[in-house]
Amino acid sequence: CGIVGYVGAQSALDVVIAGLKRLEYRGYDSAGVAVLADGGLAAVKKAGKLVNLEKELVGRPLPAGSTGLGHTRWATHGGPTDVNAHPHLDNAGRVAVVHNGIIENFAALRAELAERGHRLESETDTEVVSHLLAEEFPAAGHDLPEAMRRVCRRLEGAFTLVAVHADAPDVVVGARRNSPLVVGVGEGENFLASDVAAFIEHTRSAIELGQDQVVELRRDGVTVTDFHGAPAEVRAYHVDWDASAAEKGGYDYFMLKEIAEQPKAVADTLLGRIDANGSLTLDEVRIPAAVLREVDKVVVVACGTAYHAGMIAKLAIEHWTRIPCETELASEFRYRDPILDQRTLVIAISQSGETMDTLMALRHAREQGAKVLAVCNTNGSTIPRESDAVLYTHAGPEVAVASTKAFLTQLVACYLVALYLGQVRGTKWGDEVDVVVRELSDIAAAVDTVLETMEPVRELARSLAHKNTVLFLGRHVGYPVALEGALKLKELAYMHAEGFAAGELKHGPIALIEQDLPVVVVVPSPRGRSVLHGKIVSNIQEIRARGARTIVIAEEGDEAVVPYADHLIRIPATPTLLQPLVATVPLQVFACELATARGNEVDQPRNLAKSVTVE
Ligand code: G6P
Repeated sequence: CGIVGYVGAQSALDVVIAGLKRLEYRGYDSAGVAVLADGGLAAVKKAGKLVNLEKELVGRPLPAGSTGLGHTRWATHGGPTDVNAHPHLDNAGRVAVVHNGIIENFAALRAELAERGHRLESETDTEVVSHLLAEEFPAAGHDLPEAMRRVCRRLEGAFTLVAVHADAPDVVVGARRNSPLVVGVGEGENFLASDVAAFIEHTRSAIELGQDQVVELRRDGVTVTDFHGAPAEVRAYHVDWDASAAEKGGYDYFMLKEIAEQPKAVADTLLGRIDANGSLTLDEVRIPAAVLREVDKVVVVACGTAYHAGMIAKLAIEHWTRIPCETELASEFRYRDPILDQRTLVIAISQSGETMDTLMALRHAREQGAKVLAVCNTNGSTIPRESDAVLYTHAGPEVAVASTKAFLTQLVACYLVALYLGQVRGTKWGDEVDVVVRELSDIAAAVDTVLETMEPVRELARSLAHKNTVLFLGRHVGYPVALEGALKLKELAYMHAEGFAAGELKHGPIALIEQDLPVVVVVPSPRGRSVLHGKIVSNIQEIRARGARTIVIAEEGDEAVVPYADHLIRIPATPTLLQPLVATVPLQVFACELATARGNEVDQPRNLAKSVTVE
C-alpha cells in the first residue's frame, strides 16, 4: 500500500493526492484521504483506482485544511470495497488511520473492542487501530504520540501506521514495524510516506524511520521515539533520485526492485500462518475440514510462471500428504475432459487473479462439482471471487511483466496448503515435516543471502550476451526451476532457452550440446535425495564431455560438483522441497541482466502482457 501524511501551510489535500499518484504502483484497488479542518475531520474513500477518488472529491469537496493523510491500497484483509478502503475512522469520526502491513492479532483485538461497545464496520485488520487510538486519546489523558505508542505495543505483525486526530489539529503521527516509512523534512512543513517518491517534488531531505519507532510530525519539527517513548537518534539524508527512480526504490527497473523485495514477500506470506507450535492457521481457507478430509485427488491449474509453482506444489502435496496430485496447464485443462468430482480439490494459482485460461479451468472444475481453492496475489479479483476459498499471497503489487516475487510467494502458499491438508487429515508425518516447518521461518533470510551474492551471476550474464541458446537442466523440484529459468530468459532476453528434466537428456536433447553451449544445471541437495544428486553429477559430466559450458547451481558445501562446474553459483542448504525458493533467484537475476546487456526493455518485454484476459 502507499501512504502519505502532511502537515504544513499548503492544502493538505493537494499534497496528499499528488503524493498518492506517485505511489499508485504500490497498490491501486482503492484509495482515500482525510483532512483536519475547522476543528473536525473529513474523509472520503473510494474503491478502484485513484481517479475514482478524485471524481468522488469533485462531487463531495473536502473543507480546506493543512493537515491530512491518504492511502492507496493493495488489499490483504477484506476485499477492495469502499468500506474497506482507508482511512479508517473511530465511531465518533475524530480519528483517521491509514495502514500498510498485516496486524496478526486483529481478530482478538476486534473481539475485545466489540465487547467494549465499539462498532467496527469494515473487514480490515486496520480498523482496530483507529478504535484503540480513540480510547487512548484524548480521553485517557495521553497526547497523540503517546496514544500511538501505547497502541503499537499491543499490535503483532508488520505495520506502518499514520494517523491524525481532530483534537490535535497540527499533528500527524506515524509508527513503523517492518513495513517502510520515511519522513520528508521541509521548511515549515513535513511529510510522511511509504517511500520518498511521494514527496521529492517538495523536499529532498529525508529520514528513514527505524524498526519500532513512532514519529510526531508538526509544521516546525519532527520527533522520533521508540515504542516506549525513549528518544531515538535520527539522521536526515539527501535524496538524489529522480522521480522515476524513486518509485522504483532507486532501482533501474521494477523487476530489480521486485527481485530485491522477495525476502519480505516470502516473510509476509508466512506471517501469522504458522503458530509457535508449528500448527497452521489458515482461517481464510473456508473449505470445511470434513470436506478436505474426503478429498481423494488434487489438481493444480495455472499458466506461465504460476504453472511452474504448481509443478512444485504437486511434489510437495504428494510427498507430504500422500494424496494423488496432478498439475495441468490451465489452457489445456477443460479441453481434455478431465475426471473431476466432489472429492477433487482444484488449486488455481494466479498472481493477477484475472487470467482467462485459469478462470475457465476453474469454472469447468466447479461445474463438475469440484471444490476450488485459489492461490492469488490480488484481493477481490475474479479468480478468488469465483473460487470456494482463497489463500492470498502477500507479495504486494508486481509491476514488471516477468513474475518474480509473486512466484516465490506462490511456492510458499502451496507449501502452506500442502502442510495444511496434511494437518486437517491427520497425515502421519515424520521428522521431515517438522524440519520443513522450522526451516520455513528462516527461508526469507536464506533468500536474502542469495541476493547478496549475485554479482558473479550478473558478470556471467553479461559475458553471455552474444549467445543464441541457453539450456537449463534439473530433476525433481529442480526441473520446474529449470523451466522457470528458461521462461525468464525467453521473456526477457528473447533468447532460445529450454528447460529439460536432466534424466531425459539422453533421450534426445543431448544432441543439442555443442562446443561452448551454456547449460545451467540445478543440483539437488546431496543430503535429501542423495541418489538423485549422484545422477545429476553424472549428467553434468556427460554434457561437459561434449563441450558444454556448465553453469552449476549447487548447495553450499556440495563439493562433488566442483570439478565439473565452469561456473559455480552457491545457494544456502535447505530441505529438498524448499530449494526452489533459493534456486530460482539466481536465474531471475541472470535473465534480468542478460536482458539489460542485450538492450531489451526489462519491465515490459515485447509481445507480453502482465495479465492475459483472453483465452
Ligand atoms: C502472463 C504473464 C506471466 C504469468 C502468466 C500467469 O502470461 O506474462 O508472467 O506468469 O500470465 O499470470 P497469473 O496472473 O495468472 O499468475
